Amino acid sequence: MPMHSTSKQLWRDVQVFDGLAQLDEAMNVLVEDGRIAGLWPSRTFDEALAQGAVEAGRGGVMTPGLVDCHTHLVYAGNRAGEFEQRLEGVSYETIARNGGGILSSVRATRAASEDELIAASLPRLDALLADGVTMVEIKSGYGLTVESELKMLRVARRLGQLRPVRVITTLLGAHALPPEYAGRADDYVSLVCNEMIPAAARERLADAVDVFCEGIGFSPAQCERIYQAAQANGLAIKAHAEQLSNLGGSALAARYGALSADHIEYLDEAGVRAMAEAGTVAVLLPGAFHVLRETQLPPIELLRQYGVPMAVASDANPGTSPICMPTLMANLACTLFRLTPREALAGMTAHGARALGLPDLGRIAVGAPADLCLWDIQQPAELAYAVQAGRLRQRVFNGATIMLADRHSMAAWSGRTDPETDSARWHQRIRALAEDSQPGLALLGFACDEGVRRNHGRVGAAAAPQSVRKALANLAWHRQAPAYDAGDVTCEDGDLEAAQARLGRNVCALLDAGHLPLVIGGGHEVAFGSWSGLAEHLSGNPAPKIGIVNFDAHFDLRDPAHVHSSGTPFAQIAEQCAVRGWPFRYACLGVSRASNTRALFARAAELNVLVREDHQIREATLESIGAELDAFAAECDALYLTIDIDVLPACEAPGVSAPAARGVRLELLEPLLERLKASGKLRLADLAEINPEYDIDNRTAKVAARLIHLLSL
Ligand code: NIG
Ligand code: FE
Repeated sequence: MPMHSTSKQLWRDVQVFDGLAQLDEAMNVLVEDGRIAGLWPSRTFDEALAQGAVEAGRGGVMTPGLVDCHTHLVYAGNRAGEFEQRLEGVSYETIARNGGGILSSVRATRAASEDELIAASLPRLDALLADGVTMVEIKSGYGLTVESELKMLRVARRLGQLRPVRVITTLLGAHALPPEYAGRADDYVSLVCNEMIPAAARERLADAVDVFCEGIGFSPAQCERIYQAAQANGLAIKAHAEQLSNLGGSALAARYGALSADHIEYLDEAGVRAMAEAGTVAVLLPGAFHVLRETQLPPIELLRQYGVPMAVASDANPGTSPICMPTLMANLACTLFRLTPREALAGMTAHGARALGLPDLGRIAVGAPADLCLWDIQQPAELAYAVQAGRLRQRVFNGATIMLADRHSMAAWSGRTDPETDSARWHQRIRALAEDSQPGLALLGFACDEGVRRNHGRVGAAAAPQSVRKALANLAWHRQAPAYDAGDVTCEDGDLEAAQARLGRNVCALLDAGHLPLVIGGGHEVAFGSWSGLAEHLSGNPAPKIGIVNFDAHFDLRDPAHVHSSGTPFAQIAEQCAVRGWPFRYACLGVSRASNTRALFARAAELNVLVREDHQIREATLESIGAELDAFAAECDALYLTIDIDVLPACEAPGVSAPAARGVRLELLEPLLERLKASGKLRLADLAEINPEYDIDNRTAKVAARLIHLLSL
């Protein structure tokens, strides 16, 4: 069963900008299966539709995920030196004609490996994501040989796999004339037409073809040859046209059915008419206008009169627009080009998507893919009005919500501060998780009592994330790599399955971003959510071997046919593995024979579980059990560690739902955890069944904090 189908998410009382306009009143937005499943005014609450939905957010402004439909994000080096030259009065064209400009980025980009280009481009992509982008177009154009143009396109495709964002790629082989073709522009155009375009199409590396139709670029006749080649190879067409002069490039592109003509400061009425007739989108790039300190304004009023849709994009590139902030572009589109805030926002959502040939995206409408942004503002116009980072509260990509800073959870991080140098504690170092966070340890709370309630246990585990954070806050910081708080997944409506699905999505998003997720809290039902996230993350691999190592007094293998609870997660996982044809590898250490029925032991034997009972784990057996764990780990692709804190003796961990009469002492547990860490395969961990309600002196929270400290070193 795909994870999306189990979870419905509901946003309540949001002001909606639907991609074209602001809706009249506060709305509820329902997301299911990665799509928008409901959109209705909040005053008429639709019980039937919202049935079973988890509340994902309330208040604020919701827009479609932003679309940046024109970028040159992939390149090496930078051109800060040229920026200074231009400020001294040298023109962009003069710099280009002297072998600088685009060609200077070409030299750096040709010399860079794919990995180096990824490393250089990823922070720029992350900046766009942090400002709400869910779809971005990326052009080549700094390679200008077949191989290096394809290299850039491969990097662009890989960027789309590294981050939760849709990447559309465009081959811009005709960006500038490479020096080795000086004086032979037509020969270079032949190379683009006969080799580059067919290769990019064959390898499915490009979605469209673009040209720079300009005096310092390519003539209309040359562009026309390129359009014919693009059409012959089934690729869409775009143009950089009328940026520095009027060569009629936009009208030419429109005649070839181009998706868009971009820049267009020098566009005339004939060009506007041609675009209107062809349905070609006008892509406005106020960043380049601003950086080049241009004065010729694009013909906005004519575009309005003819009903040509206007998109707005960052044009992020090293020369004319080294700016990775789409909301700033909305502001510049208004202040420099006199767009209304509504037009600017439509330009970065619905019209941006149209410029990429994907008119179903960039919209908030029932049935549309759920790429959404929730902003901490009152009115959509504020996005264009104020230039301010940090207003994005949530970014939803394909139905999965990426949690950003969570004020509630961050409040726990306070404690003592010492005057000595190098005396930091966790509360001084931990950061709220952000879109652009470098990979590190990510703490994610699961504030849930529902599994224990359904299992007829003592509830209280929902408070665990905050109590463990408070205990961890004062521990000494010995880490090198960063640690983040990713907020809490809650379960306030009794819908455990939906909460587990949300947990899974968040865990998956953290793994996708390169973090080590460490989930705190809830009863052991947390395990099904945690595992689902790892499974989703690995689901591209055929039958991944996930090893589950559970330190627990209980198997938690009860039959899930009747009810899903804190007693069933590993049986649910076994079922999921069976459905997917994946191996089920489960080690359960610390089991108390007295607390598990014969039926459960039989179930464990059937499922080939590696079982070590509490009394078997002693000083004398530690080495051999450690070796068994090593062997178990060696057979797996990835390890998921789950610790039910009731594996510890009641005196060490009194704050649990079911205190252990015997248990496995911390001094025996720790060396085994060290061993798992040393395997290098640990991808995910969680700490379950901490119940602050029954804790004494915060002992249990402190043990949990110590375990996190150990796991994170
Ligand atoms: O969109 N106009 C041509 N291409 C880019 C600039 C590229 C560069 O200067 O590196 C643009 O502005
Ligand atoms: Fe451009």
